[in-house]
Amino acid sequence: MDLTFRKADEGDCALILEFIKGLAEYERMADQVVATEELLREWIFEKKKAEVIFPCADGKEVGFALFFHNFSTFLGRAGLYLEDLFVLPEYRGLGIGKATLKELARVAVERGCGRFEWWCLDWNQPSIHFYKRLGAVPMDEWTTYRVTGEALKELAE
Ligand code: ACO
Repeated sequence: MDLTFRKADEGDCALILEFIKGLAEYERMADQVVATEELLREWIFEKKKAEVIFPCADGKEVGFALFFHNFSTFLGRAGLYLEDLFVLPEYRGLGIGKATLKELARVAVERGCGRFEWWCLDWNQPSIHFYKRLGAVPMDEWTTYRVTGEALKELAE
C-alpha cells in the first residue's frame, strides 16, 4: 500500500463532513452533528480556523485529521490541537492512524509548537491503548469545561 498525505481544500467539504459523521457514529454522538458543508467551507477555508489532512492509500482518502493551533502561556508558544482523527473501518490496523499522528507531529515540530494534544473519550479503550503506545500521556487531573447553546447566550448577556 502506498500511503501519502493530502491537505484538504475547499472542494473537500463533502468528504470532510462524511468522515466527521463516521467518527461521530463511532463515538455514539451522531445526533450531535449539526455541521454542514457550507459551515465547514466558511470556518475552515474562509476563516481559516482549522486545517485538515487526509491519509491516502494508493491515492484514495481513507480517513482524516482535523487540527488547529491553541496556545500555551507557560510555554509561550502555540501548540497543535487535534480535534478529530478517523480511519475508515476497513483500513484500520494497517498503520495509517500512527502514520497520520507522525505526520502531524512532524508539522508541530516544523512549526515550532510546544505541544501536540487532543481529547479522547474515557470509554474509547482501543484509542487510549493506541495513543499510549505512541508516547502520549493522559491528563487525568484536568476536567474540560464547556458553555454552549442557551447557557452561552445567557453568559454573554
Ligand atoms: N487495540 C489495540 N491496539 C491498537 C488498536 C486497537 N484497537 N488499534 C491500533 N492499535 C495499535 C496497533 O497495534 C499499532 O501498534 P504498533 O505500531 O505497535 O504495531 C498502533 O496502535 C497503530 O495502529 P494503526 O494501524 O496505525 O491504527 P489505525 O490506523 O487503526 O488508526 C484509529 C487508529 C485512528 C484510532 C482508528 O482505529 C479509528 O479511526 N478508530 C475509530 C475512531 C476513533 O476512535 N478515533 C479517535 C478518536 S479521539 C480523537 O479524534 C482525537
